[in-house]
Amino acid sequence: MKTVKDFDIEDKRVVMRCDFNVPLGNKGILDDFRVRKTLPTIQYLSEHKAKVILISHLGRPEGREMKFSLKPVAERLEELLGRQIEFLNDCIGDEIDRKIADMKPGEIVLLENLRFYKEEKEADPSFIKKLAELGDIFIQDAFGVSHRAHASVTGVPEHLPSGIGFLVEEELKILSKVIDNPERPLAAIIGGAKINTKVKLIERFLRDVDNLLLGGKTANIVLDAKGISVGRSAPAPDIAQLVENLDFTSPKLHLPVDVIAVNDSARQAFCGDIKEEELVLDIGPETIDDFSKIISQAKTIIWNGPLGKFEDEEYSQGTRKIIEAILASPAFSVVGGGETAELVNRLGLADKFGYVSTGGGAMLKFLSGEKLPGIEAIEN
Ligand code: 3PG
Repeated sequence: MKTVKDFDIEDKRVVMRCDFNVPLGNKGILDDFRVRKTLPTIQYLSEHKAKVILISHLGRPEGREMKFSLKPVAERLEELLGRQIEFLNDCIGDEIDRKIADMKPGEIVLLENLRFYKEEKEADPSFIKKLAELGDIFIQDAFGVSHRAHASVTGVPEHLPSGIGFLVEEELKILSKVIDNPERPLAAIIGGAKINTKVKLIERFLRDVDNLLLGGKTANIVLDAKGISVGRSAPAPDIAQLVENLDFTSPKLHLPVDVIAVNDSARQAFCGDIKEEELVLDIGPETIDDFSKIISQAKTIIWNGPLGKFEDEEYSQGTRKIIEAILASPAFSVVGGGETAELVNRLGLADKFGYVSTGGGAMLKFLSGEKLPGIEAIEN
């Protein structure tokens, strides 16, 4: 697969797909991790005198919803790069074509949110063509969106000489290593909710890792499938159905033996003794001990998803202790999947892990062994 280094980019219009889908609050960007991770490719392109045209989506807008504008990202890029970035308030059209035609080598522009056009998600052929006409070369550095067959992800590379940027190169290298050729024992920790995005991953992990530790809502669903009551945390039938074909008898599987169960007050409850009216909001102290022991013996660790209701201080102990165990272990640790990366960035711990992936769904899919259409589009 070609990388950005395989192209003569001097004086060429290079369209670079980024994943600037960052969390936003009242005061702007809450976590600029994804923006920072694209800097090496942007700098390389600019230093080698390309005309750098950055494109991205942000959120899931319905039409031109300005709260999803990429303008704050342009401002953050300016701060991080210490230079001017021109923000253009559309991604296609005559005005944009004119601005790009006037660009000088080394200049950088960021175009407005691609998803202001529904044609982006629909991979509409005429929208693809308009995007492709913006550049001479296409660089895919948006690992986080490479699982989507959208216009700017799979469409544009059909029309332009294409390669990957440094971020995608790094993600593929590290994630391939930990799943295909890890130093063993390999322990995977899965928590969080969104089980629909994790079924294939759990299936693969049950086969390929040495220990699979489950917490959070994911564990509740599996405990329920094994006939162990999780009180009011029992999944709805359509969710329960998602895991009904998985085999949970493997000795590699480690489920919580105790939890923090909450009704009027919180208490440690052993699995098998959770009351119907209780909610399960964290893993318990015995589980933390069990999991920490396995983590301390691992040589490679993959972690996705909080082990409890982390956003409530009271129920964040499980996740915090597991983070401590991962950081204390000599294993190479890979963290990723949307909220998990955000969480470690918020705690200021990102650089303490071996690697933090910028991928949410994309990372889960890749580790499940599924093909990423955005990467296949470049390979082909
Ligand atoms: C992500 O945050 O996982 C990517 O940016 C993709 O966003 P999407 O789930 O809205 O397609």
